[in-house]
Amino acid sequence: MRVLAIETSCDDTAAAVLDASGVRSSVVASQDAVHAKYGGVVPELASRQHILAIVPTIERALARAELTLDDIEGVAATHGPGLVGSLLVGLQAAKGIALQRDLPFVGVNHLEGHLLAVLLDRPVAFPFVGLLVSGGHTSLYVVEAPGAYRQLARTRDDAAGEAFDKAAKMLGLGYPGGRVVDELARDGNPTAVRFPRAHLKSGGWDFSFSGVKTAVRQYLIDDGSAALPDVCASFQEAVVDMLVNPTLAAARALGVSRVVVAGGVSANSRLRARMTELGGEAGLDVAFPPLAYCTDNAAMIGYAGRIRLLRGERDALTLNAAATLPVGVERGA
Ligand code: KG4
Ligand code: ZN
Repeated sequence: MRVLAIETSCDDTAAAVLDASGVRSSVVASQDAVHAKYGGVVPELASRQHILAIVPTIERALARAELTLDDIEGVAATHGPGLVGSLLVGLQAAKGIALQRDLPFVGVNHLEGHLLAVLLDRPVAFPFVGLLVSGGHTSLYVVEAPGAYRQLARTRDDAAGEAFDKAAKMLGLGYPGGRVVDELARDGNPTAVRFPRAHLKSGGWDFSFSGVKTAVRQYLIDDGSAALPDVCASFQEAVVDMLVNPTLAAARALGVSRVVVAGGVSANSRLRARMTELGGEAGLDVAFPPLAYCTDNAAMIGYAGRIRLLRGERDALTLNAAATLPVGVERGA
């Protein structure tokens, strides 16, 4: 089945075409330049930018796949979680195409897309422990099968990507700053500044990143003498430790031998290196999506959506956008 997938949950307008052979095309129109001067995503500007970009992005995805809408057999779009004004643009575009072409349509949970994105690149046997770490989410799941997710832990405050972006902002590195921190940290000493690692007294494997964010602010007020790459490397090392340790502990405790890291922060080179190294020492198979499928994209939405379309599942064209939408909840619940 040839599927057109659309993703507009935040500030990237994305479309992709997938078929039995895999991803035929995946196009992402970034809005970073629009939001950079505000130091974060401005929801109304994001919606308006999606309106401008959605049709050209779909057309580009079809052109790169060397197909037209006549060739498309199913449509999938993200319907949550995310910014409602942003979600509505992609969701309505998808529903309009499905209505006009009389095609089957499914709404896809953005988090499910991230968790399954690795499967676009390589097979991973189920179950696996999935660490979803992005700008909006930091949660740990057991993925039993496509559609069967159990949440193990979540962040108590900031998402890890949010912590990267806020630290980057304090260091004058612009927005979104996660990738810049990663690049600068490559030349830095991760032990130059000792930033705290949060240890929650209760809550199992839950995460917390507000402490390290505050510690960076305090360090810049009190001292600030370390070189920028050293501060970046030290901050990044603390965040990476706080992501890797609970993930490996959960896999060990549950007796699950596979770990998948997904979401924008899974592009982080130090997180990839540490999780691979320590996971390998613990006898775990650690997998990451290719970089293009770590940050927001429509290929991952197409992957999750195509599975449901092939199973014969359909969503009504009244499906609405949802700002919050947990994975692992019965559909329609
Ligand atoms: O998954 P994503 O594209 O959007 C959300 O669903 O949030 O994730 C974006 C987040 C941003 O916070 C960005 O700074 C972070 O991922 N990010 C990184 C890296 N690349 C993107 N953080 C650390 N290191 C990176 N290399
Ligand atoms: Zn995302």
